[in-house]
Amino acid sequence: MNEIINVIKTRRSIRRFLPEQIKEEELKTIIEAAIHAPSGHNEQPWHFTVIQNKELLDHFNSVIKKLMSESEVEWISAIGRNEKAHIFHNAPTVIIVSGRKSAYSALVDCSAATQNMLLAAHSLGIGSCWIGLVNFLFKIKEEAQKLSIPEGYEPFYAVALGYPDPSKQPRPIERKKDVVNYIK
Ligand SMILES: Cc1cc2nc3c(=O)[nH]c(=O)nc-3n(C[C@H](O)[C@H](O)[C@H](O)COP(=O)(O)O)c2cc1C
Repeated sequence: MNEIINVIKTRRSIRRFLPEQIKEEELKTIIEAAIHAPSGHNEQPWHFTVIQNKELLDHFNSVIKKLMSESEVEWISAIGRNEKAHIFHNAPTVIIVSGRKSAYSALVDCSAATQNMLLAAHSLGIGSCWIGLVNFLFKIKEEAQKLSIPEGYEPFYAVALGYPDPSKQPRPIERKKDVVNYIK
């Protein structure tokens, strides 16, 4: 099978990581993949904050889980209360993806960049997980300030990255097939 199709079809969200840090070269390649994503009007309105500080990630995890535990949405509060849950799945690297507020389609452009990172990571044997729940962190000004996001940008998502723990990996999942119609 074509290599890119194979990477797309075999990628899964990885939630069990080895503690070992990914190589600098690999991180660079993943960011390169992100910045080669398409963007509306070629604005490239993204910014990436790379966090490799375990103490800070664990702190953010606690802050997020506390807020989540107060949610009225049951599955969200259940994760917040679950002592074993870690929002970043204990990944050694987390990248926060932010978009320029004034851009034409910042959220979509940043999502394309995020998907590029997941695919690039997988192609390098690095596990990844798109983390939407990080948005609880962004609601608290003093915590969000710790990310030093440039003026005029807003954080959207995080990507957790690390070497997959080979003993605990997900199997392929069924995909909905009935999602296309053809007009010829
Ligand atoms: C916008 C978005 C937000 C997500 N947020 C989270 C998250 O906070 N935590 C998590 O573990 N997975 C998160 N995921 C991963 C999805 O759960 C995952 O992609 C989905 O279950 C399909 O599994 P797969 O990625 O292995 O194909 C998110 C995915 C997307 C696209």
